[in-house]
Formats: sequence, structure tokens, C-alpha cells
Amino acid sequence: MTDLTPDDLMFRPGLMKGQRILITGGGTGLGKVMAEACLILGAEVYICGRRGGVVEATAKELMDAHGGKCTGVACDIRVPEAIAEMIETVWADGPLTGLINNAAGNFISRTEDLSARGFDAISNIVFRGSFFVTLECGKRWLAAGDHASVVSILTTWVWNGGPFTVPSAMSKAGLNVMTQSLAVEWGNRGIRFNAIAPGPFPTEGAWARLNPGAGTESEKADPTIPLNRNGEMRELANLAVYLLDPGSAYVNGQTIAIDGGSHLKSGGGFGRLSEWGDSEWEAARNSIRSTNEKDRAQRTV
Ligand code: HXC
Ligand code: NAP
Repeated sequence: MTDLTPDDLMFRPGLMKGQRILITGGGTGLGKVMAEACLILGAEVYICGRRGGVVEATAKELMDAHGGKCTGVACDIRVPEAIAEMIETVWADGPLTGLINNAAGNFISRTEDLSARGFDAISNIVFRGSFFVTLECGKRWLAAGDHASVVSILTTWVWNGGPFTVPSAMSKAGLNVMTQSLAVEWGNRGIRFNAIAPGPFPTEGAWARLNPGAGTESEKADPTIPLNRNGEMRELANLAVYLLDPGSAYVNGQTIAIDGGSHLKSGGGFGRLSEWGDSEWEAARNSIRSTNEKDRAQRTV
């Protein structure tokens, strides 16, 4: 089921006509809803993920609901050669005008329980993968003198750390610095960099790995969130459209929290898991592993 109707968006119909946007990890969750918003507003949209069937089904679902053109591409952004191939294919239809670095991997774990492969499983997607996608696009924009907007989806942990999600917090913090650095380095050549730091927006992918055992439907908001609720998909989608569109042309190098004020009150992370003992961690790990196995079985790249 799709998440949005045109009435959920703050912008005039056709706002993004002529724009071409790539959203990594756009087959599910927040990436899917941002793809939907761009499509509704008239952009041509590309979404990628490792599960080819998922991105293709999402592209079809969104086009059936809203018309327009959305293309699903199977690509593992941990593989620089695969990124280069995807970007080459996308550019063959014309240059992108925007990129959303949204794909991510994450799971809660005591840091002392992480193996090198566990750290790499996350950092190779978030830190390295997002950088290489940005670089492939950036080189083309610079060579052609094109203007573009890059939006990276981070977390509020970039400001105050992420206990029990350390590889994710470190990787997202790296992307925060990439955002600030390239905003300066490439800003005078027409390429803007901004980021969004969402608080909790219930998605299957995140909840299965960060809140294992609790379904997204039944999940109550963390009582420490000042607004006393989780985020709504349309709220995130509206912010992403704003940052992508030339209407926000003077906003550059910013990371904007959309978390109901959560990180200001409680840090917004998983510090509360300090109370867990071995049995809770074992149950979480088993639950996360079974989700990972189920998803891995659907991968086509
Ligand atoms: C400790 C774990 C673990 C766990 C996996 N590993 N789960 N270690 N605790 N719970 C270890 C494994 O044991 C293995 O190391 C290594 O990680 C790789 O595991 P694989 O299952 O082979 O990894 P892979 O198939 O590459 O999958 C990548 C993944 C997976 C990151 C582990 O979760 C994934 O594909 N995620 C994509 C979607 C996702 O995570 N979405 C949530 C985004 S939410 P060893 O040494 O044993 O071989 C988000 C922020 C939300 O980012 C913020 C909320 C406020
Ligand atoms: P999600 O549905 O699990 O989204 C992650 C997406 O990334 C999936 O579509 C996944 O598809 C894709 N992906 C993972 N590894 C990839 C790879 N190597 N190559 C290409 N695609 C890959 O979770 P979500 O909640 O929507 O998260 C989206 C973004 O929001 C992430 O950056 C996350 O950190 C951020 N975020 C979410 C929340 C929240 O509350 N939901 C809060 C803060 C930040 P495949 O598995 O098919 O590859």
C-alpha cells in the first residue's frame, strides 16, 4: 500500500517536473515514501536496492497509484563497480538533478559483541556506499556544470552518539562531515549538500533490527519524545522535497532534525538498553538474524 496522496504534500502539483532523482534504498520505508512524493510532484525517479524484486514491485506500485516514471534498479552500493554501472545506466537517459543517500544497514548490539564483519556490514553500506554513489554523481555534475541537490538521511546520533548502534552512528557522523565538507567544496559549482536526521518513523526494516519483536503497528511512541508520538511519513517526505527543490537554493551544508524534539530531551538513541542482560541480547540477536536471513534470500545482487 502506498503512503501518500497529493493532499499530504505541501507543494503545488508539478513542482518537480523536469527533475530526475535517485533514491538509494528507495524500495522500502522512508526511501519509498520520498520516492512517492517526488513522483507525485512530477519528478522522474530512480530507486535502487539489493532486492531487485522489491525495487521493481515498488516502482510499479507507485506508478500504478500516481502515474509518472519510476525505475527500479538492482544495485548493491557496497560494490563501487556496481554503483558506477548503475549511474552510467541512469545518466544514459539524462543527468540526475538530485540524489537522496537513504540506503542503510543497522542493528542494535552491544559493541563488544561486534565482529569485524558486523562492523563492515553496516559501514560498507552507509559510510563507503553513500560516499561512492555521491562521488559517481558529483563527477558527472562537475564535468557538465550541472546544478544538483544531494540530501543524505542521517540520524540525530551524529550530534550526541549512538550507544548500542555504534557502527551506524560512526558512519552517519562521517556522512554529516561529508555534507558539510562538500557543501563548501562543490557549493560554488552549483551542487548543494544537506541532510535530514529523522527521529523514530516506524518502518519494517528499522523496527525489526532496532526494536526486535515489536511490530510497527503496535509500537507506541517513546514517552520521552516531547511531541509524544512517532514521525509521520508525509512529514519526512515534505522536508525531503523542500531540500531537493531549487526553492531551498540558499540552504547548504545543513543537517535538519525531524524528531519531535526527541534528541534535545533524551539523546534520541538506545542508551536505555544499558538495562538489558545476556538473555535480552541473545533474543534480540536471534530475532535480527532471522530478519536478515529472510531479506538476504530475496536479494538478486
Ligand atoms: C551482532 C550481528 C547482528 C546482531 C548481524 N550481525 N546481526 N552481530 N548482533 N544482531 C553480524 C553477523 O553475525 C555477521 O558477522 C555480520 O554482521 C554480517 O551479517 P550478515 O547477516 O551476513 O549481513 P548482511 O547480509 O550483509 O546484512 C547486512 C545487515 C542487515 C546490515 C546486517 O541488517 C541488512 O541488510 N540491513 C538492511 C536494512 C536495515 O538495516 N534497515 C534498518 C535501517 S534503520 P559474522 O562475524 O558473524 O560473520 C537505521 C537507523 C534508524 O539505520 C534510527 C532510528 C531512530
Ligand atoms: P529500510 O526500509 O530497511 O530501508 C533501508 C533500505 O536500504 C532498504 O530498502 C534496503 O534494500 C536498502 N539497502 C540496504 N543495503 C543496501 C545496499 N548495500 N545497496 C543498496 N541498497 C541497500 O529502513 P528505513 O527505516 O526506511 O531507513 C531508511 C533510512 O532512514 C536509513 O538511512 C536509516 O538509517 C534512516 N533512518 C530511519 C529511521 C526510522 O525511524 N525509520 C530513523 C532515523 C534514520 P535492500 O535490502 O533490498 O538492499
